[in-house]
Amino acid sequence: MHEMLLLLVLTIASGAFCQTSEDERSCLGNTVHNYFYGPEGQTINPNHNPVVSQQGKPGKVGPRGDRGFRGQKGTKGEPGQRDNTFRELERMQSELRALKERLETIFAPSSSCDHIQNKESSGTYLISPEPSKVQPFFVFCNFTAAETETVIEHDTMEEVAVPKCKARKCYRRKISYNVDMDQIVALINRSSHCRQYIKYRCRASLIFSGNNEDYASWVSRDGTQMHYWGGATSQRNDYCACGETGNCVDPSKKCNCDRNTAPETSDEGYLTDKDALPVTGLFFGDTDASDEFGWHTLGPLICTGRS
Ligand SMILES: *[C@@H]1O[C@H](CO)[C@@H](O)[C@H](O)[C@H]1NC(C)=O
Ligand SMILES: *[C@@H]1O[C@H](CO)[C@@H](O)[C@H](O)[C@H]1NC(C)=O
Repeated sequence: MHEMLLLLVLTIASGAFCQTSEDERSCLGNTVHNYFYGPEGQTINPNHNPVVSQQGKPGKVGPRGDRGFRGQKGTKGEPGQRDNTFRELERMQSELRALKERLETIFAPSSSCDHIQNKESSGTYLISPEPSKVQPFFVFCNFTAAETETVIEHDTMEEVAVPKCKARKCYRRKISYNVDMDQIVALINRSSHCRQYIKYRCRASLIFSGNNEDYASWVSRDGTQMHYWGGATSQRNDYCACGETGNCVDPSKKCNCDRNTAPETSDEGYLTDKDALPVTGLFFGDTDASDEFGWHTLGPLICTGRS
């Protein structure tokens, strides 16, 4: 049964996905002849997009009229249309090429999206960062980014409102990935950079408080609670991005949310520590009063480059 399926896929991959050209071409070991036949049975090179008809010649000058006035010159004919069939064929060819790429990754998965050779169409691909240690798994490959991104999503991709609760870290949200942790770690090992966006949108709700009595934290992949926020490049405890640059809404604080009053503000940025990523949990508190609110956002794990 499996052999049947494999044979079918191989047949499709070797036949239908070979690029057309005027010559015969070898695809996955099979020699195939790809010709397109025109209306009279002649071979047409599909790489040349013929102009089927050209712009018409201007009309003749009209005959001399009764009073000696000549008629006006005729207008030029409509330009000819390029034959859409060839455009359609080109489009189908490019779709088939993209499909072929994806099929090939199933038979010989790359280490990461960056290692995939033909980066034609972003989408879901099978990768295998450490074939001797972990099974291959599916990821999203973003080839439109300036640097190819390998993207792994989780179960909390939308912003979430923190429910009412008062104490430090009284709210906890577990983050689950649809890929095993050892597979994620294998990808991180093979990538030169990984990052994950984190944001706390707050209204009179503390994030850290600054007295080593933090209201919030994020949990590293080995279960450690971490006490710096996204964008705080020094990774010092109680720091958010604005604390590093000294431009928090209250300059005496290290986070915007630690002003702890309305109006709404936020702390956000990327976590980039490859040894700590991905985020596996979030803690918050200080949302109990009627005017206290918090919302958290966590982006997907994004890895780039090779190591
Ligand atoms: C791919 O990356 C680009 C550039 O970073 C980004 O704008 C786009 O949203 C990404 N696409 C997906 C589907 O993640
Ligand atoms: C990732 O790298 C670490 C450190 O080099 C190594 O101990 C670990 O086995 C690797 N894990 C995987 C799944 O490749």
